[in-house]
Amino acid sequence: MTLYDLKGRSLTCLRDYSPDEIRALIEMGLEFKRRYYAGERVIPVLKGHSIAMIFEKPSTRTRVSFEVAAWQLGAKAMYLGWRELQLGRGETIADTARVLSRYVDGIVARVYEHEKVEELARYSRVPVINGLSDLSHPVQALGDYMTILEVKGRLKGVKLAFVGDGSDNVLHSLLIAGAKLGVDIVVATPKELRPREDILKAALDAAAESGSEIRIIEDPYTAVSGADVVYTDVWVSMGQESMREEKTRLLRPYQVNRRLMEAAGGKALFMHCLPAHRGEEVTDEVIDGPWSIVWDQAENRLHIQKAVLAALIA
Ligand code: CP
Repeated sequence: MTLYDLKGRSLTCLRDYSPDEIRALIEMGLEFKRRYYAGERVIPVLKGHSIAMIFEKPSTRTRVSFEVAAWQLGAKAMYLGWRELQLGRGETIADTARVLSRYVDGIVARVYEHEKVEELARYSRVPVINGLSDLSHPVQALGDYMTILEVKGRLKGVKLAFVGDGSDNVLHSLLIAGAKLGVDIVVATPKELRPREDILKAALDAAAESGSEIRIIEDPYTAVSGADVVYTDVWVSMGQESMREEKTRLLRPYQVNRRLMEAAGGKALFMHCLPAHRGEEVTDEVIDGPWSIVWDQAENRLHIQKAVLAALIA
């Protein structure tokens, strides 16, 4: 497989990508990072190109890393708030996709309902990249596995313990990509918050091919035992504010704190896609402690974003 095979493809969910394609994007992200630190800050493979970035929800990492990534590739990125577009006044997603894709070479979209990013992709002539939906966060998972490969030197056989909300969109993408890459994943979550069944089935099918192990359990201490990586995310995602009380009650026993990290054993690292709600899903002493690689993880969003834009658009 060459990266040329990805040219013109959208990236709405990693279910649509093969293990080789995912690995190639991660390797390309590492190469962009290596070249950046070797002094090649600008690699203008997208010179003269434009990227529209439609955001229905707030963002720090995704917005800024895509915008800087586009600039470092020689392209122009435009931030477009959903409500500032005619979308906010009722123009259809299909018509918006038809028009924008006559102007730009790629569209990044952060939306509430996953169907919106799928609809954009269906009617767009240019690649559409999911910058987070209620179902998945593929570019986050790509950056996360890039980080694990960078730190651990391998992905196959790495044990990732996710502790917290099993219905989380980032976890969905970690499950799909990790199963394809041979990562062993154990999710500790209350029975009320299991991953979506179709996502879990896709992950289990991929795991059967790669030889990885996917388990969903309830006990966080069992989950983290012997883990290479302990991962968590916020308990209440954007748009779920009405569920705050119920989710907080269910997830309180799943806080990643010193006791849990010590139970994980000496090799465990801590990851979080951020933003963190310190004192809820993670304590200060974990996120700021010796286990934490969250700032490297956040930085790698920039380099993986370059890989995604270059592979799909250049
Ligand atoms: N992790 C992540 O996507 O961060 P933002 O919501 O700040 O983009």
